[in-house]
Amino acid sequence: GKLSQEDLKRVAAHRAVEFVEPGMALGLGTGSTAAHALDRLGDLLRAGALPGVAGVPTSLKTELHAARVGIPLLTLGGDGGPARIHISIDGADEVDPDLNLVKGRGGSLLREKMIEGAGERFVVIVDESKLVPRLGCTGAVPVEVIPFGAPHTLGLIRKVFDGLPGFHARLRTVKKDAEEDTPFVTDNGNYIVEMFFEDGIHGDLADISDQLLRITGVVEHGMFLGMATTVIVANKDGTITVMD
Ligand code: A5P
Repeated sequence: GKLSQEDLKRVAAHRAVEFVEPGMALGLGTGSTAAHALDRLGDLLRAGALPGVAGVPTSLKTELHAARVGIPLLTLGGDGGPARIHISIDGADEVDPDLNLVKGRGGSLLREKMIEGAGERFVVIVDESKLVPRLGCTGAVPVEVIPFGAPHTLGLIRKVFDGLPGFHARLRTVKKDAEEDTPFVTDNGNYIVEMFFEDGIHGDLADISDQLLRITGVVEHGMFLGMATTVIVANKDGTITVMD
């Protein structure tokens, strides 16, 4: 029968878990695709197939999920030095032809970037719909900001893209019952600014990244540049493409 998008996510996730070997420390991703990898890891651990495997969760949600399926948890740099993470496995919102990513539409980009940047290998798992010609094509590029002065920081972020046709940025909000909108709060107690581009980001991504990170009040952004070492794509026809 026809494969659903959920099936494709599972196919990509299971392929990534094949890279995991006994004794490895993993970065455990967040989102609906990474969730399939957690389930698979849990099954293999319970079957005794992956002794000594443990992981650092990239979000509170993943921490709960990993604990539920029996994946032992590690903290980042738990023994006092920089952590050694062998492989991180996570989804992405967008993947461009150079394997740059947009991540964090689910809200957990900061811990993801810390953990995935610390690993020796970062395996990204996506279904074909996540492949884009340019970052920012299909939706928001998130930026995590300190709550203090968030409207001011939002204004500084807007200035980076001054005059770019179709660009807009806003604070991400959530609806609480019938009340008015309140800011979305990350696992780290921060806010998220969402940047929207009419036709994706055309400029130099590294330069744009630098400009954003230079703004005091910006903690991190959801462009993951040059970080992915492998991208596993599950195609609609059931085949898998591995890019590295
Ligand atoms: C979490 O904030 C994100 O970075 C996710 O990893 C990303 O949004 C992919 O999520 P899905 O697999 O649910 O599309």
